Amino acid sequence: MSNRNYEQRIKNLLDSMTLAEKVGQLNQVGPSVVGAFEIPVEELQKKLLDGEITMDEIAKMLAASKPDYREDDIRAGKIGSMGGVAKRETAMQLQRIAVEESRLGIPLIFGYDVIHGFRTGTPIPLAESCAWEPELWRKTARMAAKEAAYAGVNMTFAPMVDVSRDARWGRVAESAGEDTLLNAHYGAAKVRGFQGEDPTAPDSIAACAKHFAAYGFAEGGRDYNRVEMSEQQLREDVLPPFKACIDAGVLAVMPSFNDINGVPSSVNTWLLRDILRSEWGFKGTTVSDANAIEECIAHGVCADKTDAAKAAIEAGMDIDMNSCSFADNLEELVSNGSIDIRILDEAVKNVLRVKFELGLFENPYGVLDEDKQPFLKPEYRALAREAAQKSIVLLKNENILPLAKDKRIGVVGELAANASEMTGTWALSTLGEDCVSLVDGLSQRKADYVYYENAEQAISDDIDTVLLCVGEGKDESGEAASKARIELSEEQLSDFRKLKAAGKKIVVILFNGRPLAIPELKENADAIIEAWHLGVEAGNALADIIYGDVMPTGKLTVSFPNASGECPCYYSKRNTGRPAGGFKFTSKYLDIPSKPVYPFGYGLSYTEYEYSDISVERTAGSFKVSAVVRNVGAVAGVETVQCYFSDPVARRTRPIKKLVSYAKIQLAPGEAKRVAFEIPFAQLGYYDEKMRYIIEQGKFIFHIGKNSEDVISAEAVL
Ligand code: NOJ
Repeated sequence: MSNRNYEQRIKNLLDSMTLAEKVGQLNQVGPSVVGAFEIPVEELQKKLLDGEITMDEIAKMLAASKPDYREDDIRAGKIGSMGGVAKRETAMQLQRIAVEESRLGIPLIFGYDVIHGFRTGTPIPLAESCAWEPELWRKTARMAAKEAAYAGVNMTFAPMVDVSRDARWGRVAESAGEDTLLNAHYGAAKVRGFQGEDPTAPDSIAACAKHFAAYGFAEGGRDYNRVEMSEQQLREDVLPPFKACIDAGVLAVMPSFNDINGVPSSVNTWLLRDILRSEWGFKGTTVSDANAIEECIAHGVCADKTDAAKAAIEAGMDIDMNSCSFADNLEELVSNGSIDIRILDEAVKNVLRVKFELGLFENPYGVLDEDKQPFLKPEYRALAREAAQKSIVLLKNENILPLAKDKRIGVVGELAANASEMTGTWALSTLGEDCVSLVDGLSQRKADYVYYENAEQAISDDIDTVLLCVGEGKDESGEAASKARIELSEEQLSDFRKLKAAGKKIVVILFNGRPLAIPELKENADAIIEAWHLGVEAGNALADIIYGDVMPTGKLTVSFPNASGECPCYYSKRNTGRPAGGFKFTSKYLDIPSKPVYPFGYGLSYTEYEYSDISVERTAGSFKVSAVVRNVGAVAGVETVQCYFSDPVARRTRPIKKLVSYAKIQLAPGEAKRVAFEIPFAQLGYYDEKMRYIIEQGKFIFHIGKNSEDVISAEAVL
């Protein structure tokens, strides 16, 4: 939120509103409600779940449809915001009705899922988080905001800052991974990018931190499922990224679909009032997830939509996305005294405040100048390419990469040639035809390659090195895309084995939206490049890395398990009383190693780094931890140096390691730098059984290293 004070204007406006107009401000309708589809939305959802229709097809239907936007309802002040409108002309036309033809002229908010780029699709969040670079995260959000604002959008339902430790959960793709600090940095950077320095600027859009809270801890990784969690874990692991977004000025928060300990977030007073408003002082608005208020009936905590509307608004929900529970019931509930009008007024004020903060009353139409090429500008493509390069993680390299520029290679696998699979899970406005596939990227740089649809063809040819492209399509991760198996498919493994048996050198390129269980690839591939879903510039960025024009610098923000059964798999686990070891009676699985295939923070480069001379100094309020990092290879590089701490003796069990800081440094060949981190004592505490944040005196261990496992350590006493 800005420092501007709109309270008097909000009050004046509120005083002039009828009850119906107030309720209208809390009503958000989307294409599913306004009839953009010819078939009922429930049927559509079912088809999507059954795999009979794809998100792409839905996006096309949307683009082609002429939805009835309930213009009369806008005129009557019965709609406060709309979802799913991302067409400049439509948004302008509807906004004009709201501003010029409704009694009070209150502008609409147009909300949209701008998750990883708008038209210029950028890497999925999980990929982009591997850059460990808040400034990049901010810049790509700024670019997305500019494109989206041009299309009439003024609120994005992003960033998602759900700490995600279960690779089975499809929405791990939309997160910044398993670590709390990284999600916090990612979220704050995105908020600053979307909202810009001045949220009233026409090319700024409101951000909405989601999903509040603990959505990433859904039972068994099944989407929308329940969460059972201690308040301690909630406060230590889950809430800090939301708090970081609020400190960065986020204008909206979306409560999550799931319940926590039996209470769905949509009706969770403790979350939405006690924590969000009272503890954190949030002044923006809360927007329900799609249909989530009505879904409290299915959760089994509300009898009907009337009951759900009452429970949600009393709990602190301001905007009802899509379920019309508020629109259908609030007037009556307030009139008959079931709901205190002050509760309704508070919610309306929160919505109006965001409209003022966005400058909508002064300029309801956003970007006014006609731009001949508002999307995919060359500088946007350049930034998308930079983001893609920095998102790629080199997992293995047995002296095979980078490839010599004139080397003849084979390329195998459907994902290598399918540009639209590069868009990633949330690419409502990114077009496959604008994407560069790997094969396109190789062609553009005139690489000497042959593309084979299957491994058989590659085997019969005399090419000795193949790029084998395997993993997942974009619809295999994201919302409602949880999986019980995160291994490669039998077909993909069989291709890999055949090529191996034929004696080929194999560079595996993984396209995926979640960590995959790939122990066999680690064992037998010659190189592995984790490419995720990289957006419009995917193929160019990959070719840059493969031929060494650009150094791989990405580091994993999620651990890669050995098998599906190892989920959730994350570095900041507890030791237990019997840490995994050689002895039989310890905490481990009999049939897989105790360490992940690739740990959190892991990623190689085309050079090597050596870490030495760690030291810790105690200052008045912090520890200064530093170590020397030397580039011992022959080429210049960029290394993400990571700093962790452990608290070996505390009154409650503590994570074996916890990330506290990181720095990305540049080193010429042979160059060494001492990298220092200032760790305030306040970062070393935890919540006790009475939920007091305490910092205990005693021994701490600090670790500096290349990843969460490969570290050097030093002790300090507080
Ligand atoms: C449901 C998703 O959970 C949420 O992230 C998204 O913003 C809404 N749908 C709107 O599309």
